[in-house]
Amino acid sequence: MSTSTTEHERFDAVDVIRAKRDRERLSDGQIDWVIDAYTRGVVADEQMSALAMAILLNGMDRAEIARWTAAMIASGERMDFSGLSRPTADKHSTGGVGDKITLPLAPLVAACGVAVPQLSGRGLGHTGGTLDKLEAIPGWRAALTNEEMMRQLEEVGAVICQAGSGLAPADRKLYALRDVTGTVEAIPLIASSIMSKKIAEGTGALVLDVKVGSGAFMKDVDRAAELARTMVALGTDAGVRTVALLTDMSTPLGLTAGNALEVRESVEVLAGGGPSDVVELTVALAREMLAAAGRTDVDPADALADGRAMDVWRRMISAQGGDPDATLPVARETEQVLAPADGVLVELDALAVGVAAWRLGAGRARKEDVVQAGAGVELHAKPGALVRAGEPLMTLHTDTPERFERAREALASAVTIAPEGSRPTERPIVIERITAG
Ligand code: URA
Repeated sequence: MSTSTTEHERFDAVDVIRAKRDRERLSDGQIDWVIDAYTRGVVADEQMSALAMAILLNGMDRAEIARWTAAMIASGERMDFSGLSRPTADKHSTGGVGDKITLPLAPLVAACGVAVPQLSGRGLGHTGGTLDKLEAIPGWRAALTNEEMMRQLEEVGAVICQAGSGLAPADRKLYALRDVTGTVEAIPLIASSIMSKKIAEGTGALVLDVKVGSGAFMKDVDRAAELARTMVALGTDAGVRTVALLTDMSTPLGLTAGNALEVRESVEVLAGGGPSDVVELTVALAREMLAAAGRTDVDPADALADGRAMDVWRRMISAQGGDPDATLPVARETEQVLAPADGVLVELDALAVGVAAWRLGAGRARKEDVVQAGAGVELHAKPGALVRAGEPLMTLHTDTPERFERAREALASAVTIAPEGSRPTERPIVIERITAG
């Protein structure tokens, strides 16, 4: 039973805020209480905002972060997949432009004998959400009961669905508060937010795709590596076999950013084609997930090439009411962006393309906004390509042509063309692999 008077409370919110403000470490009792009391509404939003800011400025040590994560998990339910006939592995990406990897990855890993319980979200801002992409498929539904999810995992091996409101409710409340108080960027808060949901979800193994570059949350490698190490430690301490890859997000992944456009590209990858960077990252993450789940005896590249992953994709989409053969929505209007000069495309900025896709209607500015399934940006050239002045570099797609102008503004300095013979900066897709220890 919650109490709204402070006289029955074990701690005082102001004391907890002062402690972190004065760079003290919070005790286990203070952390358990503040998360629980915030979830109950006893700690007010303004008090939690002040504490979040103190954490952003003064940090938390490993034990504090682990306790904070555990307290957020304890605020809700925990799922349990131990009754399934095969091991489980999940992937979490910190979000990027054109990051459709979950779509081919989940069926690919399932085709190799490891079940994938992928709880996903909708997009906010310039990075798209996996559920928004899949909702471009006619009939597909994101909301499943726990029983439906379990059945699909047993029968199909892969499920991508909306996280129920019961998982880490403290995080839901805190994340919304951080969003409006300039406290999203605190590494202890990001790591505990992501890992509380993944640990509560009950996966046996977890691979983190931590993006680095202009289109990512983390713009530099050092901060991305710190976030990755913090999350790997949290997962490992909670008994989840956890590995992280730092991957490049300076340029968009693949040739599309936008919901239906990305589904189409994912299906191309499942059919054995698709852009080489999407294939490379999908296979690299699949290998990590399989290894973390104890399956080093299978090669996911084979399951992609021989159509097994496509078979699982079709069953996964049908199981959630979608028609894998349906024609995907197409935007009503298109416009091309032309190359301004002859030469080599040496830079194609991920953030600019992400913002353009968002402004065309592929993403939302507020949680309540409706996304356009067909909107987005299609790229005709990637860094390294030789281009000629006047040739199309991109096609912009939208149902609402008044959006073209703002999308073009976002793209104004997205592209750098250098004289023939120039080479773009070499950027491997996988920058670093981070494991526990
Ligand atoms: N994603 C989350 O779920 N939480 C964060 O804090 C940041 C990204």
